[in-house]
Amino acid sequence: MLYIGIDLGTSSVKLILMNEKGEVCNTAVKEYPIYFPKSGYSEQNPEDWYKGTCEGISELLSGQNSEEIQGISFSGQMHGLVLLDDKDEVLRPAILWNDGRTKEECDYLNNEIGREKISSYTGNMALTGFTAPKLLWVKKHEPEIFQKISKIMLPKDYLAYRFSGIHCTDVSDASGTLLFDVKNRRWSEEMIQIIGIRNDQLATIYESYEVVGTLTKQAAKELSLPQNVKVIAGAGDNAAGAIGTGTLNHGMCSVSLGTSGTVLIATDKFAVDSKNALHSFAHANGKYHFLGCMLSAASANKWWMDKIIGTKEYTKEQENIKQLGENKVFFLPYLMGERTPHNNPDARGVFLGMSMNTSREDMTQAVLEGVTFALKDAIEIARGLGIFIDRIRLTGGGAKSPLWRQMVADIINVKVDILKSEEGSGLGAAILAAVGCKRFSSVEEAAQTLISIVDTIEQNPENVKKYEKKYQIFCGLYPALKSTFHTITLSD
Ligand code: XUL
Repeated sequence: MLYIGIDLGTSSVKLILMNEKGEVCNTAVKEYPIYFPKSGYSEQNPEDWYKGTCEGISELLSGQNSEEIQGISFSGQMHGLVLLDDKDEVLRPAILWNDGRTKEECDYLNNEIGREKISSYTGNMALTGFTAPKLLWVKKHEPEIFQKISKIMLPKDYLAYRFSGIHCTDVSDASGTLLFDVKNRRWSEEMIQIIGIRNDQLATIYESYEVVGTLTKQAAKELSLPQNVKVIAGAGDNAAGAIGTGTLNHGMCSVSLGTSGTVLIATDKFAVDSKNALHSFAHANGKYHFLGCMLSAASANKWWMDKIIGTKEYTKEQENIKQLGENKVFFLPYLMGERTPHNNPDARGVFLGMSMNTSREDMTQAVLEGVTFALKDAIEIARGLGIFIDRIRLTGGGAKSPLWRQMVADIINVKVDILKSEEGSGLGAAILAAVGCKRFSSVEEAAQTLISIVDTIEQNPENVKKYEKKYQIFCGLYPALKSTFHTITLSD
């Protein structure tokens, strides 16, 4: 029996084929473009996601017996706004999680409606990446499109719709819409009214491991799969990643170094941080989690490598970086603005501290360190809430770098567990598919059987001390530059 996990990411869709022992039998990756039509805007074409996924599935299954496929599930980039008309055609490019255009709409929701009110309905405050403010933006700037909206979907749910013909979503991804009553795991009537939409425009809610349906005749044909393959709701990429790393028990913490950088802490019960500095979301195992999200993590390194110094040799570039904690150069990774902890779409990237002695390695090191300091910001908020974090599970593309792993251990002052499978979110999606197909009785049982730690990186006490000093300097940089960021945006 085989299960497919589809991780619909921002730079690519990553697919994994998992057998019932949890072994990854095959993987495929298909990239697609991301468009930045204006500074701070970020969009993709849902058709590119579907096309990439179909091509990926065909590659994934070459040489495999497709009759053995039992179920498919998803992990998806969260918060993206996909709008469909009454013929289920896409109305405009999807507005992504890292798009910062909705500052005014967020100010309206947080200040005029009131942050505390919004938080009492949803467990969260309005943030530019979230889905509901984007609906207000479309209502104001593209009223002709707003009029035509028949369904409001999230990225992975658009794929599930193309596969199953059902407009569905799951509790973890719905949590990031700001239209969802996270505590009670249902759409919020109050938010529906505030945004000025209708209940029937929203998708049906499922728990992440629930079966939504089977493939439509057309999807079965396009994917060369039997029609009885089950489609399981799946989860937002952070919740799915947490399933893939086994971050399920109360207080466990996982960190992802993907396009975004996230810190996820599993909780048994629903809880809200009174300042809403961390998001409160429903977890994919039926429980809850806190989440802190920085917008440019491995993507900041990719920007530096691919676009600025022009190399694809990430490993070689990091080989000569040996002196941890001694770099004089600082980097603020706010290339797309920042969410946790600053909630500021106007923030931008900064290098600081260069001299005539500064080398290319120092700059590369500063990028990796800057991202890790920014992740520490989210961890420190959680620690400030009384959550004890001395160990994390690391996932995402950046987790492949031994240097970055050590920096995470030293800067955040934690032990870093490395998992057998590095496919965190995709594996989480495949696990959800297996649970939906009743191969396991629960997400917990699946995780216990399938997930194992292969390595633990210990923090180096000397580096921890050095980095603590550097972090104090890092903490002073954003406040010093905040008003300048705003001035730069005004001149755009
Ligand atoms: C989480 C978030 C990102 C995206 C990226 O709140 O915005 O992690 O899900 O894929």
